[in-house]
Amino acid sequence: MTVEISVIAPTLNERENVPRLIELLDAALAGRRWEVIFVDDNSTDGTQDQVMACAADDPRVRLIERVGRRGLSSACIEGFLSSSAEHVAVIDADLQHDERVLPQMLDAFAKDPSLDIVVGSRFVEGGGLGDWGKLRIAASNFAKSLSYLVVPQKVTDPMSGFFMVRRTSFRNVVPNLSGRGFKILLDILCTAGKDFKMKELPYEFKTRQWGESKLNSTVMVEYVALLADKSFGKILPLRFIMFIMMGLVGAGVNVAILAVLYGGGMLGFMTSHIIGALAAMAVNFFLNNTFTYSDKKLTGLRLMSGMMLFYVLCSFGLFFNVLVAERVVDAAGSWVLAGFLGAVVGAVWNYATNTTLNWRA
Ligand code: GDD
Ligand code: MN
Repeated sequence: MTVEISVIAPTLNERENVPRLIELLDAALAGRRWEVIFVDDNSTDGTQDQVMACAADDPRVRLIERVGRRGLSSACIEGFLSSSAEHVAVIDADLQHDERVLPQMLDAFAKDPSLDIVVGSRFVEGGGLGDWGKLRIAASNFAKSLSYLVVPQKVTDPMSGFFMVRRTSFRNVVPNLSGRGFKILLDILCTAGKDFKMKELPYEFKTRQWGESKLNSTVMVEYVALLADKSFGKILPLRFIMFIMMGLVGAGVNVAILAVLYGGGMLGFMTSHIIGALAAMAVNFFLNNTFTYSDKKLTGLRLMSGMMLFYVLCSFGLFFNVLVAERVVDAAGSWVLAGFLGAVVGAVWNYATNTTLNWRA
């Protein structure tokens, strides 16, 4: 018998929530042909074993284990792609979403065959944020207002991670998804465009009972990167944008160190600037390793050799930068143009060589 709905539950250290979620789905989806696909990113608390144990006595429970890869959005995409059901939903495994909305979502599809997606929303009549404090609400509202710069639909909860999509509709957008970060719904809506037919249903966000949230600063940077990718990613790749963003932070570090050492009268200009530049490159390397290449993060011995290679490659970048600037200033006489073109050539060189040689895994 064909499965009517696959529920994708991404997990990272959610061991105790797994059996509870299965029970809740069993109750909510009674009478429907459903399955749940846990997509686990090599949890350290034994979540995989817990899912396997549940799967052993329930064929509706499946597990996708990913090793050496990370990311909520990409985990959801892999889960979706492994399903053959007509409808696929995604729900947080930590029980903060409301599984009782799933049958309502299925009914919405049954009622309107032209629907592409049904979104669980905390901001329509009947929905709510639960016990969120003022600060988290303000931060979330800010992030939401940024998303309206890129989302083409009239959606009240673009940050929601709880929704159901028609599998064939989803399949059409897959090739153009960014797949980075936490916000898979935003990614889908932006990629699909305004003709993607959407409906929202209310739900109340619940309090996490077991385990910890994975929301951290990397998630926030990835969010901004996702928005950037969805606004001008067709022209410039997301990784390049992030590489440049980290480069600008590095430039700030360079100037700050120069200000302290030279401006403070401690050292001469050249010595101060060289120390500043070397420190900026180190900061750049670690920022890129954490954010730009978060999916290919270097660790251990590769972290050390990677940093040396970064210094070598970027030194060539600097050399080409100066070479181009010198030629342009001679030929065109404009130092602004010369500086800009030199920097562009250097940045493209650094980006291209580091992407192919350094963070290549
Ligand atoms: N496979 C995998 N890989 N799963 C992950 C990863 C990852 O890198 N990061 C987080 N998860 C899983 C968690 O285990 C959990 O089941 C779910 O994704 C959500 O993660 P939380 O860390 O609990 O996120 P949250 O509560 O801050 O945010 C959730 O609520 C938002 C509403 O504000 C997310 O669902 C968002 O998508 C949602 O919009
Ligand atoms: Mn959560």
